[in-house]
Amino acid sequence: MSLKNITVLGSGVMGHGIAQVSATAGYNVVLRDIEQGFLDRAMEKIRWSLDKLVSKEKITKDEGDSIFARIKPVVDLSEAVKDAQLIIEVVPEIMDLKKKVYAELDKTAGPNVIFASNTSTLPITEIASTTTRPEKVIGIHFFNPPQLMKLVEVIPGEKTSPEITALTEDYVRSVKKTPVLCRRDVPGFIVNRLFIPMVHEACYMMDREGYSMTEIDSAVKFKLGFPMGIFELADFTGMDVIHKATTEMHLRDKKVINPHPTIEKMYNEKKLGQKSGEGFYKYSDDKYERVLLSEEMAEKCNPIHLVANILNNAAWLVTNKASDIEELEKAASLGLGLKKPMFETGKEFGIRNIVNELNKLADKYGEFYRPDPLLISMQ
Ligand SMILES: NC(=O)c1ccc[n+]([C@@H]2O[C@H](COP(=O)([O-])OP(=O)(O)OC[C@H]3O[C@@H](n4cnc5c(N)ncnc54)[C@H](O)[C@@H]3O)[C@@H](O)[C@H]2O)c1
Repeated sequence: MSLKNITVLGSGVMGHGIAQVSATAGYNVVLRDIEQGFLDRAMEKIRWSLDKLVSKEKITKDEGDSIFARIKPVVDLSEAVKDAQLIIEVVPEIMDLKKKVYAELDKTAGPNVIFASNTSTLPITEIASTTTRPEKVIGIHFFNPPQLMKLVEVIPGEKTSPEITALTEDYVRSVKKTPVLCRRDVPGFIVNRLFIPMVHEACYMMDREGYSMTEIDSAVKFKLGFPMGIFELADFTGMDVIHKATTEMHLRDKKVINPHPTIEKMYNEKKLGQKSGEGFYKYSDDKYERVLLSEEMAEKCNPIHLVANILNNAAWLVTNKASDIEELEKAASLGLGLKKPMFETGKEFGIRNIVNELNKLADKYGEFYRPDPLLISMQ
């Protein structure tokens, strides 16, 4: 099938960006939301983003105008899907709402239309089962902001056909992004499975090992090659997103995450991070502010606990055939901004030391920490 027409359902934080990158690649895009006002706001944001690209001379004014003209905002669902070949669903992360949307879509869209969900955490197989075409339903996980982030995770559900997976990967490449295939529909897919549990483990490190937040963050930045500290990254992501991902992942698999009560508490207290002015750190305004971290502070902290946690989850993904080391490193580099491969960091710390650390943690705090067989075999 030669893909030309795409409908994006939901024009919020992610939807308007996905519409923009699709139109930039030459697709005819229909952007659908439930109220005209939401669409007006989304189109304004797209215009602003394109104007910025024009002022930076990344595109010409004419190119900006024709990209904008390729996006048609529509409220009526039947009209929005009538010519669609691929529908990218970007509605809020609420399973009941998604199920309602898919049931409606299944009736409205033609039988050959592909449904791709941008969900961060919900099971693709369960979403697909609410339609009569589970072989044509797939996960397509863009990162925020879609205009800038290169990674897109592609997640086939249990019944997704290989042709649809290949076509989705081609679409991702066509919008100049890098697809990383998460071969199984596992909780958290790849990047969230690596990242979200680390935030909780960093909280446990403060409790158990007495390190300060800035010492841990400095070690994460200067010793593990993250672009910023883990608490900083949590504040940047938002505690609402982290809380939701935590709940969904833990609901499906107790082995993926050991929730620390701080996240739930911060979420309930509306300490959402950068966006609310306070998260782990305080921020003076809503502009992106960096925390002061240093190599000196990094020297005070041994982050082996965090290296052990991220590698154990990475190893789980390989052992359970959701990915392989090369693809995982690609996802971590593009999705988390890691400057150094995870397994290289692991070798610097010593895989044997990491396995020992995990066994020590498991003996003291429970089986959640027990090392994956892959790590044991790599010692
Ligand atoms: N925000 C992020 O950082 C991020 C990153 C990756 C993935 N995601 C995922 O993307 C999805 C959307 O997240 P978001 O942050 O863009 O949410 P958002 O709340 O900013 O936008 C969702 C939009 O969907 C609209 N909507 C609701 N019902 C609809 C319907 N029936 N048809 C069409 N539109 C409808 C809402 O009016 C809203 O404009 C979620 O599944 C989320 O997990 C979000």
